[in-house]
Amino acid sequence: MNGEQYGKVTVNGRTAVIIGGTSGIGWGIARAFAEDGADVIATSRNDAKVADATEKLRSLGATTRAVACDVRDSTSIERLYEQAADVLGNIDVLVNSAGSVARASVTEMTDEQWERDIDVCLTGVFRACRIFGRRMDSGSIINISSMSAGQARERRAAYCAAKSGVNGLTRAAAADLAPDIRVNAISPGFVKTPLSGDAFDEGTKTRTAIDERTPMSRVATPEEIAGAAVYLASEASSFTTGEEVIVDGGYSDSAF
Ligand SMILES: NC(=O)c1ccc[n+]([C@@H]2O[C@H](COP(=O)([O-])OP(=O)(O)OC[C@H]3O[C@@H](n4cnc5c(N)ncnc54)[C@H](OP(=O)(O)O)[C@@H]3O)[C@@H](O)[C@H]2O)c1
Repeated sequence: MNGEQYGKVTVNGRTAVIIGGTSGIGWGIARAFAEDGADVIATSRNDAKVADATEKLRSLGATTRAVACDVRDSTSIERLYEQAADVLGNIDVLVNSAGSVARASVTEMTDEQWERDIDVCLTGVFRACRIFGRRMDSGSIINISSMSAGQARERRAAYCAAKSGVNGLTRAAAADLAPDIRVNAISPGFVKTPLSGDAFDEGTKTRTAIDERTPMSRVATPEEIAGAAVYLASEASSFTTGEEVIVDGGYSDSAF
């Protein structure tokens, strides 16, 4: 940007890696980026899901490569970076969207459930920020947090703790990686995805309660989270770092 024009809300011509990009919010972001002209690698643990997402991205015109990755394993993330850089060159954008949610009260939650959510949702984000942050020349890292980071939610102790941690990690990483790499979080509200299962289907008790409290009177689609990701990955957000962008239809601030 030369100061005479505003940064455009576009990722056209950028390179991006979306971890957790084969499903739900991550896939919504991967598809939006490819439709907007970015070259995108969408990855997760499952080879078949990775192959399917890669084929779809290719059919949208993106340069891409099928690379599986498990955020619980630093070596796997190192390999992802090497494979991505080999085909895309410098990586401009990293999106961390891998997720896991254990549903148990704090008195019932097992060590295994706790450790899995913390490992996937928090430590995995740290590992990817460390590995990509060391190697990216410049660009934007976007961590998918959750409005649960700032809420009291029953039977989600590990998940809420992990997402609060993601917001703290995002601020600290933004300080460490400035000025070349910006780091921000997106905190979605309720989004209908495979992770949320059928709980958000119309007519369910949960969905009715959500609709009553949410000013927008509905849950989100993954594409509605992708808009915030395009903004945070683009030059339009060139002075935004260390922030949490909440995309929840007004739910968090609603008194009813
Ligand atoms: N849905 C919501 O209402 C909601 C609300 C707020 C925040 N979020 C957050 O949004 C993110 C995406 O959730 P989603 O709802 O889109 O879920 P989703 O559809 O289940 O997608 C999760 C993705 O993460 C991948 N993944 C899971 N464990 C992984 C691991 N260890 N390493 C690499 N990839 C892994 C999954 O693929 P594989 O199984 O193939 O690995 C999948 O691609 C999560 O961080 C979640 O906490 C969701």
